[in-house]
Amino acid sequence: MRTYSIAVIPGDGVGVEVIPEGLKVLRRAGELTGSFEIVTTDYPWSCQWYLEHGKMMPEDGIDRLRDSDAIYLGAVGFPGVPDHVSLWGLLLPIRKEFDQYVNLRPIQLFEGIDGPLRDRGPNDINILCVRENTEGEYVGMGGRFRQGDPEESAIQVSLFTRKGVERVARYAFDRARERRKMLASATKSNALNYTAVMWDEIVAEIGAKEYPDVALTSYHVDALSARFVTAPDLLDVVVASNLFGDIITDLGGALQGSMGLPAGANLNPERKYPSMFEPIHGSAPGRAGQGTANPMATIWAGAMMLEHLGETEAAGLVMDALRYVAKHGPKTKDLGGSAKTTEMGDAIRGAVEAVAIPT
Ligand code: IPM
Ligand code: MN
Repeated sequence: MRTYSIAVIPGDGVGVEVIPEGLKVLRRAGELTGSFEIVTTDYPWSCQWYLEHGKMMPEDGIDRLRDSDAIYLGAVGFPGVPDHVSLWGLLLPIRKEFDQYVNLRPIQLFEGIDGPLRDRGPNDINILCVRENTEGEYVGMGGRFRQGDPEESAIQVSLFTRKGVERVARYAFDRARERRKMLASATKSNALNYTAVMWDEIVAEIGAKEYPDVALTSYHVDALSARFVTAPDLLDVVVASNLFGDIITDLGGALQGSMGLPAGANLNPERKYPSMFEPIHGSAPGRAGQGTANPMATIWAGAMMLEHLGETEAAGLVMDALRYVAKHGPKTKDLGGSAKTTEMGDAIRGAVEAVAIPT
């Protein structure tokens, strides 16, 4: 029996409501497989913490997380603290400091969930998005000049490094090789004549040299967005820069029928630093405090965490349980039902038991 030490940051809004559901499902999967237990350390870092301490996490926050096996995060951001302050104070530094350069976001429509696309079902929507997660448009370089003055200006730099593009491209090609051997690369090289042209060259070079068996297609990100809607079945793995990946994964998330479903893993594939797992829906301040948030995205992120930790069997149980509940209910408000967050968590935990111990 292995013991994993998980740093838990519930954060803000619905984050604090969904994280306990995730933990209860993962713990049950550990008990049933008999292969691991989870020891958590809770960090209260959040916008509330900011209002009390004037920062999102302590100076040594990153160091405190460093020795954990993984980080399980709810959501960051709440009215009262500007979003760029909360995100640049907590989520984004973790992604960068721990070199979590892959943001892996699976897009799958589950049976039993109504997707927004007419005539499209679970067989048509199964896309794996690989988003670059440490540089590009999110590198955080720039500044504001003569703020508040009519002559005011601002500059925000995009930085793409050869190493940064190469490593995320290789990761995406590897995933494509395990799947349908098709990789779509998001670009905008018609307008972004420096960064996106370099991105295209590097991706094509790696494809030709190292992955001749994977079919690479480059799409301008605008056209790719349309394709998510018109021909999702023709997409397998998608690789994109930080901002493009951010945008298309919300579009992809919407194809899953509710933002209560999409999950993401912020991975440091070399395992030099801990990776971080989170639902991608954010803190949803308007829904917070009602106990009605859908915990499925967080539970799915938990399954990705188990997979990363090498607990393949337990991860599979959790995914099967999610699929079972998607099909048979209960359903939370976002899915047209009235189940509470905790009821949904209980049902998924029960489904883990049912799939682990078939009657
Ligand atoms: C996401 C979020 C974040 C991002 C925000 C909250 C900074 O939208 O994880 O997709 O843009 O990366
Ligand atoms: Mn986003």
